[in-house]
Amino acid sequence: MEAVKLISSLSFLLLLLPLLFSSALADQNRSPFEFINGLKGCHKGNKTKGILELKHYMEKFGYLHYNHSSLHANDEEFDNLLEEAVKTYQQNYHMKATGTLDSETVSQMTKPRCGVPDIINGTNSMRPGRKGNHHRPGSLHTVGHYSFFPNRPRWPSNKYRLTYGFLSGTPNEAIGPVARAFQKWASATHFTFTQVQDYQSADLQIAFERRDHGDGAPFDGPGGTIAHAFAPTRGWFHYDKDERFSVGPTPGAFHLETVALHEIGHLLGLGHSQVPGAIMFPSISPGVSKGLHDDDIQGINALYQ
Ligand SMILES: *[C@@H]1O[C@H](CO)[C@@H](O)[C@H](O)[C@H]1NC(C)=O
Ligand SMILES: *[C@@H]1O[C@H](CO)[C@@H](O)[C@H](O)[C@H]1NC(C)=O
Ligand SMILES: *[C@@H]1O[C@H](CO)[C@@H](O)[C@H](O)[C@H]1NC(C)=O
Ligand SMILES: [Zn+2]
Ligand SMILES: [Zn+2]
Repeated sequence: MEAVKLISSLSFLLLLLPLLFSSALADQNRSPFEFINGLKGCHKGNKTKGILELKHYMEKFGYLHYNHSSLHANDEEFDNLLEEAVKTYQQNYHMKATGTLDSETVSQMTKPRCGVPDIINGTNSMRPGRKGNHHRPGSLHTVGHYSFFPNRPRWPSNKYRLTYGFLSGTPNEAIGPVARAFQKWASATHFTFTQVQDYQSADLQIAFERRDHGDGAPFDGPGGTIAHAFAPTRGWFHYDKDERFSVGPTPGAFHLETVALHEIGHLLGLGHSQVPGAIMFPSISPGVSKGLHDDDIQGINALYQ
């Protein structure tokens, strides 16, 4: 009798296994950046499905700006402007600026990342004070670091005691990790952060949102962009509700505290950094936890000196 039970439950499991496995695979393939894998090896002159989507990706993260008189804004041709955009991207990520979608470039581009653009309003790199010089010879050898938003928005000196609140319905598990991330920034700066119950009146407002949620920066489902935040003094920090998050570092899930540490950097006025170990580096890998890096501390000190 027991043996029959065992056999029937085993065969049930065997039936289920391929289903579980294929749904896990489907999850992975659902990353909105997955299409870039199909463009490996592409360069100027190529015309293939996926190039238009890549143009949208490059526009979204600040590398490309077409206007109504641009010839190839809405087609699948890898044009001059896209080549320039890919070169700038490669320089920002310390790769050889070939303009070709080599495997290193594709691998970086498909990583999950913060939704905040690397380049905002034509600042030509993630480094501060470098405008329009992405052709400068030797720029590959310079040491990249932190950046700011255009015009260096920051909190005024009468707003160094900031309050934060969570939109009602925020998962309880997120509250401790976010508080720890604020504590880390508080110990490295002159800011203090206090949680308040009234979300509407808080200086910093934290929420889990999905897809288009009314702030002009829609999320994109599982994978792709996983969180974003706004420059001072807007105060909005959103996690993408469609991602898997975890309290401790867990394979396949994004570490809540690490993501918060990055997004709080934006709330305080930091842009993205070229330093891969910095919390302000744009990509955020699942299962990984990071702390504040010297580069982040130098950046915030330079902004508020
Ligand atoms: C890109 O163009 C080259 C020729 O310059 C060609 O050999 C290659 O197959 C093209 N790749 C794609 C994906 O169209
Ligand atoms: C549109 O883009 C082209 C480059 O493709 C540039 O030369 C031109 O100045 C731009 N026009 C406007 C109105 O921004
Ligand atoms: C970028 O420029 C536009 C138009 O000039 C402006 O409305 C927007 O606030 C700027 N964004 C930032 C982050 O400075
Ligand atoms: Zn970011
Ligand atoms: Zn948002």
